[in-house]
Amino acid sequence: MKVITTISEMRACARADRATGKCLGLVPTMGAIHEGHLSLVRAAKARCDLVTVSLFVNPTQFGPNEDFSKYPRTFERDRELLEKEEVDFLFAPTVDEMYPPGMVTFVTVTGLSERLCGKSRPGHFRGVTTVVAKLFHIVEPDVAFFGQKDAAQLSIIRRMARDLNMPLAVAGCPIIREPDGLAMSSRNAYLDARQRKSALVLHRSLQLIRGLFEDGERSAGALIEAGKEVFKDEPSAKLDYLEIVDPDSLESKDEVTGSALVAIAGFVGETRLIDNIVLTAS
Ligand code: PAJ
Repeated sequence: MKVITTISEMRACARADRATGKCLGLVPTMGAIHEGHLSLVRAAKARCDLVTVSLFVNPTQFGPNEDFSKYPRTFERDRELLEKEEVDFLFAPTVDEMYPPGMVTFVTVTGLSERLCGKSRPGHFRGVTTVVAKLFHIVEPDVAFFGQKDAAQLSIIRRMARDLNMPLAVAGCPIIREPDGLAMSSRNAYLDARQRKSALVLHRSLQLIRGLFEDGERSAGALIEAGKEVFKDEPSAKLDYLEIVDPDSLESKDEVTGSALVAIAGFVGETRLIDNIVLTAS
C-alpha cells in the first residue's frame, strides 16, 4: 500500500492506472477505521481493480462547537488495518494541502442539505459535499463507496454526482453493527461503559418502529411517537430527531408507502450518534 499525502502525487498515480484501463474505487473516510469502513473497502476490492482509501478529518464539515479537535486520530493503526485489506493507495493529505489559503468555493446540494442532520448541524453537508467533490476530482474514481449508516449523506452525494454530471458510480453499502445492534461509528470510542449501554436506545427505537410497521402500522406520525417513547426509559440519552422521509428527497412522509427512511439522531452525554432503517411497503 502506497501512502500519499499530496494531491499531485495522488492524481498522477490514479491517472497512470486508469490509463491502463483499470477500474478505480474510492472509499472516503475520516479514519479511526472500524469494521464499517472495512466493509466498504471489501466492497471496493470486489468491484474494482485498484482501491484508494482517503483518510482526512475534514474541518469544513464540523460546526464551531463540534468535535473536530478531539475527533479520534489513529493513523498508524488505520494504516495497518488498511494494509491488511491490501488497499492500493492511502491518501492522507493535510488540511493545508486540501484547503489552500483563500479557498472560497463550496458545493451545496440545496434543500437536501438542510434536512435531517443538516437541520441540527448547519453547514455540515456543505462541508461533506465540498470535500467529497474535491476527492472525486483528485482521484477520478470509477466507483465511490459510501455507507448506508450515513443515509442522508449517501442521498446527498448521489444527488451531487447526478446534478453535476460527475463521471462515476456511487455505491451504497449496508450498515455494519456491533453484535448487540449498535451501529459501528468512530464516535463510539467516546462512550464509557454506561453510555455504551444507553447508546442502544437508538437501535431499540428503530426496532420498535420496524415491529409496528411489520404489524401493519403505516402512519409516520404514529410510528415516530412510538419510537420517541423508547427514549423515556433512557434519560441519559437525548433525542435530536426521529423522522420518516423519502430516501431520495429526504422530505417527510405522512404514510409509509414504497420505501421510507427512518432516521434517528441522539446525544449520549456529549456524543452525537445516528442510525437508520429503511422500511419497504409492498
Ligand atoms: P466516516 O464517518 O469516517 O465514514 C466513512 C464512510 O464509512 C462513510 O461512507 C460512512 O457511511 C461509512 N460508515 C461508517 N460507519 C459505518 C457502518 N457502521 N456501516 C457501514 N458503513 C459505515 O462519512 C464520513 O466519514 C465523512 O463524512 C466523509 C464522507 C469521509 C467526508 O469527509
